[in-house]
Amino acid sequence: MTRVHPVVAIYPGSFDPITKGHEDVARRSLVIADRVLVAVARTASPAKSELFGVEERLEMVEEVFRDDDGIEACRFEGLLVDFAREVGAQFVIRGLRAVSDFEYEFQMAQMNRELWSGAETVFLTPDQKYSFLSASLVREVSRLGGDVSRFVSEPVLRHLRKISGE
Ligand code: PNS
Repeated sequence: MTRVHPVVAIYPGSFDPITKGHEDVARRSLVIADRVLVAVARTASPAKSELFGVEERLEMVEEVFRDDDGIEACRFEGLLVDFAREVGAQFVIRGLRAVSDFEYEFQMAQMNRELWSGAETVFLTPDQKYSFLSASLVREVSRLGGDVSRFVSEPVLRHLRKISGE
């Protein structure tokens, strides 16, 4: 069905770096949205130590989705709800891997709605084979010299190799 107004979704995150689990969620989002904006947050949570700066994280997202129609990479700073309003997004996508994700995600969804009553969050689950996967584990395994080639796509591997001096 062709819609008169395309349905736009934002899939926000730190994406430090983007994993195959993130990719899976972004591609699944196309079932419910015509355009999916994979939005890299400039300011990640202060509790998180960054591996890549925002420009490089964005570059990896662009490279990973180069051939995916309907998926676009962008970055944002400030509040997610302000960005969502600015780009006319109908909803925010977040991935839920396990029950343990739920509390944080629920809190964020509710806070976003407090900030803007129009904020709707849709949760999608990645393929089960990615249910254990997180960017923080990829960072750690990669930093300690482990093989992360099953967990991230080739462009991300290239960036990881570059920083480890290979
Ligand atoms: O991949 P992450 O780190 O779980 O993503 C969290 C992110 C970036 C989506 C969240 O921290 C966010 O939306 N940051 C933007 C600032 C903001 O709006 N904070 C209030 C969220 S309730």
